[in-house]
Amino acid sequence: MGFKITDELKEEIRSRNRLEDVVGAYVALKRSGKSLVGLCPFHNEKTPSFSVSPDKQLYYCFGCGASGDVFDFVMQYERLEFVEAVERLAERAGIVLDIENETPSQRLSRRTRDVLLEINTLAARYFRYRLLRSKLAAGAREYLSSRGVSAKSAELFSLGYAPDKWDDLYTLLAKRGFSTEVILQSGLVKKGRASAYDVFRDRVIFPIRDVNRRVVGFGGRTLPGKGESQPKYINSPETLLFNKSHVLYGIDLARDSIKRLERSVIVEGYMDVISCHQHGFTNVVAPLGTSLTTAQARLLLRYAPEVIILFDADTAGQEATLRSLELLRREGLRVKVATLDEGSDPDSFLKENGASALQTLLESAANLTEYRINVIVSATDLSDASLKAEASRRCIEALVEVIDPIERSEYSKYAAYQLRVDEEVFTREVERAVRRGRRAGDTFRKNRYTRQVESAVDPAASQESLRTPGAGDALAEKLTKAELLLLGMILDNPSLASLVEGELIEESFSSPSVFRIFRMLCDEAKQGDSEELLSAILNRIDDEAERQLIHRLSVGAEKLDSVSDPRRTVLDCALWMEENRVGRKISSLQLDLREAEKSGDSERIRLLGKQIMDCQRLRQEIRAKMSNPNEYR
Ligand code: CTP
Ligand code: MN
Repeated sequence: MGFKITDELKEEIRSRNRLEDVVGAYVALKRSGKSLVGLCPFHNEKTPSFSVSPDKQLYYCFGCGASGDVFDFVMQYERLEFVEAVERLAERAGIVLDIENETPSQRLSRRTRDVLLEINTLAARYFRYRLLRSKLAAGAREYLSSRGVSAKSAELFSLGYAPDKWDDLYTLLAKRGFSTEVILQSGLVKKGRASAYDVFRDRVIFPIRDVNRRVVGFGGRTLPGKGESQPKYINSPETLLFNKSHVLYGIDLARDSIKRLERSVIVEGYMDVISCHQHGFTNVVAPLGTSLTTAQARLLLRYAPEVIILFDADTAGQEATLRSLELLRREGLRVKVATLDEGSDPDSFLKENGASALQTLLESAANLTEYRINVIVSATDLSDASLKAEASRRCIEALVEVIDPIERSEYSKYAAYQLRVDEEVFTREVERAVRRGRRAGDTFRKNRYTRQVESAVDPAASQESLRTPGAGDALAEKLTKAELLLLGMILDNPSLASLVEGELIEESFSSPSVFRIFRMLCDEAKQGDSEELLSAILNRIDDEAERQLIHRLSVGAEKLDSVSDPRRTVLDCALWMEENRVGRKISSLQLDLREAEKSGDSERIRLLGKQIMDCQRLRQEIRAKMSNPNEYR
């Protein structure tokens, strides 16, 4: 990020990206009163519950609680970080982000990043040139061709070669005028005892590029026959540009294809990626010798909801691998696993069996749950009852995580069959574990893809769990109709606040946080500027549930259009809330009275009796003032 996100910048971007236009690019919106409504893009539904308020520039979904402003929409829909959403919307509006405004340290790291990028680009060209032209690279060229890498693939992946010299690259970079300090920061050169030396020597070079095709780092492989003293692969160290756990090898070439094919394939190694692309599988990527991370899962999810894992046979079944697959699933990807035979990897598989065999293998990839069951069962001696019970327990753990109940029941049957246990007993245990998990509040994150499945299959489940990651609209659910209407009306017309400000106390509200919001509305209403009220309020609120409530109120859910006399209605709401409060007070006094009667405390009985009568009288007075006492119940 080379710019400072000021409030002014945010406002300018907001004003030049109308929410209804941005949303309208993805969702068909129809006018309904003051709002626009459409089918929610964040959960699966048949009747529109997604509302956009053009006046307030906020959206709210009555189905799943997704809510926010234009930045939130882009973040949720495109799965972007805030800064990325700012960039995206700025670009959409043709706003050039003002890099003059950045802080000194932002400027320094932006400049350093620019310089490191220049160094990487230059280094990649240098390695590439060496591989193509240098006599020293004869062995490397021979190696690549022996591995079947075509000239076209080598070009596509910009493969290179770092010669067996100590400081060729360092010398070149220094000659080009880069300071030693920044050269060291690039990770391509290390400081030795006597002098600096190149990190990559006598290795085939794999430039690692980010989604925008910028070279952020390098991988290097030894040539065969150089002894075992060196690790087969090394990567650039972490730098300002390079974070191993955020990039995927091949993503620059794969991203469009992943989008088109609606799924990605993850393999283990550089050579697997290259080989797959060369055979026409262009949606293939690999992590850089580490287990998969959340950031990588999100990166893939940007382009498609499904991922097939195509790991070497020896790694795919390992616990660590299974855990990282679970991570992909938790991030919302549909995960499938294709298994290779012992001793082969995608590269060797392609060489032995060809592209159509790989295609078949990918098509027959097992769902992750099925796969986990297979792994557990095949490692268990089913003739031993206690081992069988242990395996069953582990299968149940895997099954509990299947959200879709129909899918879960199918896999439960499958597992019972594989484990050779009684289907009915086993299924019952699975469902019991599911209920236990729910009660324990074990709600792992769901995204729009898992939510879609869930709501399509089980409408009850959708009621319970169709929530955006975060708070849900728990707060709105707790509010009475009168409270919602009152707050909604004041938000719409702040001058109404003064009518009821003095009438209501904390106990009039169903929760202290609603009272807080009411107080804020009253305070801000006094500032007079109704245009600014909403953003002023949202700026003051940190709590996610409270923000969501404001979003909901803003999209005009409470049917304010049909209110003919706003002043009367606001007063009625306040009266109803007061009546309600006094009613609660009476109930609680009656409880006290019963206690007092039990203990025979006559003085207290008399006092409570009087208080109750006072309250009842007050309640009558309130009721008499209400124009329509049953309206808000
Ligand atoms: N890897 C690594 N360091 C090593 C070995 C492997 O970082 N010493 C990473 C590399 O990213 C490599 C991946 O793990 O691509 C898979 O390892 P392996 O299967 O051994 O590599 P391949 O890509 O199959 O390479 P090759 O076929 O050239 O042996
Ligand atoms: Mn391999």
